Amino acid sequence: MAKPTKNKAPEKMDKLVSLCKRRGFLFLSSEIYGGQSACWDYGPLGVEIKNNIKQLWWKAMVRENENIVGLDAAIIMHPRVWEASGHVEGFHDPMVDCKECNRRFRFDHLDSTVCPECGGELTDVRQFNLMFKTHIGPVEDSASVAYLRPETAQGIYVNFLNVVNSTRQKVPFGIAQIGKAFRNEITPGNFIFRSREFEQMEMQFFIKPGTDDYWMDFWRQKRWDFHMRLGIRQDRLRWQQHGPDELAHYAKSAYDIQYLFPFGWSELEGVHDRTDFDLKRHTEFSGKDMSYFDQENNDRFIPYIIETSAGCDRTMLEVLCDAYEEEQLENETRVVMRLSPLIAPIKAAVLPLVRRDGMPERAMEIYKEIKSEFPVFYDEGGTIGRRYRRMDEAGTPYCLTVDSQTSEDDTVTVRDRDSMQQVRVKIGDIKTMIRDSIQNYKRPDTVDSLESSYVDKE
Ligand code: GAP
Repeated sequence: MAKPTKNKAPEKMDKLVSLCKRRGFLFLSSEIYGGQSACWDYGPLGVEIKNNIKQLWWKAMVRENENIVGLDAAIIMHPRVWEASGHVEGFHDPMVDCKECNRRFRFDHLDSTVCPECGGELTDVRQFNLMFKTHIGPVEDSASVAYLRPETAQGIYVNFLNVVNSTRQKVPFGIAQIGKAFRNEITPGNFIFRSREFEQMEMQFFIKPGTDDYWMDFWRQKRWDFHMRLGIRQDRLRWQQHGPDELAHYAKSAYDIQYLFPFGWSELEGVHDRTDFDLKRHTEFSGKDMSYFDQENNDRFIPYIIETSAGCDRTMLEVLCDAYEEEQLENETRVVMRLSPLIAPIKAAVLPLVRRDGMPERAMEIYKEIKSEFPVFYDEGGTIGRRYRRMDEAGTPYCLTVDSQTSEDDTVTVRDRDSMQQVRVKIGDIKTMIRDSIQNYKRPDTVDSLESSYVDKE
């Protein structure tokens, strides 16, 4: 008789969550008070990866395109913005509560009409607005209502005229922004996949109406290339087009890049054809004419917008899931984060083999020398084997060990994270070696332990 298949996805996520805490990638917010659910703090290693992701995105979108400029708009905007955008009226999820256990669910995520936790009866469906409301100033009345932005996009649209007038950019051009967004999600979860406070990396590209199909294809390709540059396995990425009933109110067409997370294929980011919806609505609600005058063709129009909208935290989760591997060695299981050196939080660790014979002092000199250019880590605590394992879990591509030979020929052993092979390298060549690995890293073909063990096969 066939054994029942066991879904190992939750187990894999639990292992990743526990590694993230152990090594200082991510912590639950306000943990000492019992935790603030669906809010996460980036630890010393996590913030380095997140900053690397953001810098790479900024480079790919702003630095490498002469017709894209940056922006950093305020989180709290005029409340009319959210009326114009459609969020006050339409940014709802259908919600039900269990009458027995009081748990709350998104109705559209349920398979049955009873509580999935306890089988209890559910309330009628109610619409729940996802925006966080607050009040500006000391009086809490309807005139002082404000919202924490649920997306960064609107900060770009309301500044369209400011950017055109101050930079003299000509259509087609784009405005890019990275920043926090807030959604009072009914059912957050899957670690940092769906949280209530998160960061978006959005670019709005303003184009002449009728050229949208061309620019959709163009930006879809660019966004795909970005994930390739992060070193993500291609077979864990795919495109998913929104069907007519899934399209947001503003979109003519939309495509998501999805990643195969341990909990299944899920959205990483989207590319949306928003037509002239946004600038038309802001013209209507603000009374300001947001049309654009094309001097070359003596033509006035409201630009169409192609939006690329990525979640920074989802990209972080993608990178972490893709890097996590368990390798069976002779006497133990090695956990290794195969992060590309481009995004690894620490590029190399400097380790004296023992705490005597001048090795710590020499190791500290090497550490200080490399630190001027790359994030490196000094560690003299515990056996060398244990120190290697810690660095494997941190995703550090190289361990540089100072031993007795170092004082004789100015070399260290360099242990490669992926192959665990060791070679001797001149101290003077180390920076070049790290620089090369950041530019040219190729992930080795390894057993795909995460994916192949999502579900036990018979
Ligand atoms: N401006 C368009 C927009 O905001 P969206 O599909 O609602 O579109 C874009 O969000 C991206 O923001 C998503 O693909 C995802 O990466 C990220 N995102 C959205 N909600 C999130 C949440 N609750 N937690 C983490 N990331 C989220």
